[in-house]
Amino acid sequence: MPTALLVPPSAAHQDVLDAVLRARLRAQQQQTVDPLFSDPEGLLRQYGRILSAVPGAGDIPFEMWDHLPRMLQVWSEHRLTIVLKSRQIGISWLLAAYALCVAREQYGANVLMLSMGEDEAADLLDKARFIESRLPPRFRARKGRDNRSELEFPESRSRIVALPATKDAGRGQTATLVVLDEYASHAYAEESFLSIKPTIDAGGRMLVVSTAKGYGGAFADLWDAAGGMAITKSEGAFWEPKDKMPGPNGYYPVFVDWTADPRRDQAWYDAKKSETPPGKMAQEYPSNPEEAFIKSGRPVFDYDVVKSFDPVAPRRGYLHTYAS
Ligand SMILES: Nc1ncnc2c1ncn2[C@@H]1O[C@H](COP(=O)(O)OP(=O)(O)O)[C@@H](O)[C@H]1O
Ligand SMILES: [Mg+2]
Repeated sequence: MPTALLVPPSAAHQDVLDAVLRARLRAQQQQTVDPLFSDPEGLLRQYGRILSAVPGAGDIPFEMWDHLPRMLQVWSEHRLTIVLKSRQIGISWLLAAYALCVAREQYGANVLMLSMGEDEAADLLDKARFIESRLPPRFRARKGRDNRSELEFPESRSRIVALPATKDAGRGQTATLVVLDEYASHAYAEESFLSIKPTIDAGGRMLVVSTAKGYGGAFADLWDAAGGMAITKSEGAFWEPKDKMPGPNGYYPVFVDWTADPRRDQAWYDAKKSETPPGKMAQEYPSNPEEAFIKSGRPVFDYDVVKSFDPVAPRRGYLHTYAS
């Protein structure tokens, strides 16, 4: 009886086997990855739909407001980004669309979305699910796990996971993209950052997004360390560093002011101000980064009054103390 001997492949033979395997994997990846998802702006312009919170509006076309294309550009150009924003300017919808594109574009992508609590995280994932559900059928993919906290695309072996920002959120995972939405309101902002940050240290991306919530706290510290207070208006409602370089801590700081929604004007602002508690308007709808932080929370001094004072040159001299 002839016996089959298992002979280990020679080095040359092994190289050929490896090359064949790599080529097969590449072909498989190309098959599952649609170029549409490498261009989130194009995807949104052509097929973007959102579910409007405006009563009776429902399923509406995604409008490409002026600050949104530059925002997408910054997110793809910089590995680490921090965004200070005014409320209701379409950033959560944009985050959801971007997360979906990363999950559909990159084979094996692991996208983690962290929000204040389970409900907010599920809501952000639902936005991604909604955008995907409104794409033409040829661009839609088969789903694996599809529930409140996960949306999985088995063909590209990728997934989006929505997590509440607990102390050990994401610990032990490797992520392609991490999104922290409304970070200033996360209960364990510092602890969850410490556990989530290592997930992208192998080269993943991190988007930290929030409205301000008083000066101090993990979001304000990260903003300060990114040189956020020094950025200037670049176009329309969009503010960024003049030299277009990330700040000292490696994060690229962006501020988007209250004018970002094109339907807003001074009359809108004044009406909103009249129904908003004093001191909160600047937090929710800031005109500049300083205002967002200084006036938000519970300021000791009224920012408008302090701003109205004329600075006076200090009188310098010596204080002599005499022994009596
Ligand atoms: N691109 C868009 N086109 C049209 N309406 C939008 C768009 N993005 C957001 N909206 C409207 O603004 C509301 C708030 O959007 P959201 O993304 O939650 O804002 P933010 O996260 O900046 O507070 C949505 O419910 C929707 O009505
Ligand atoms: Mg939001």
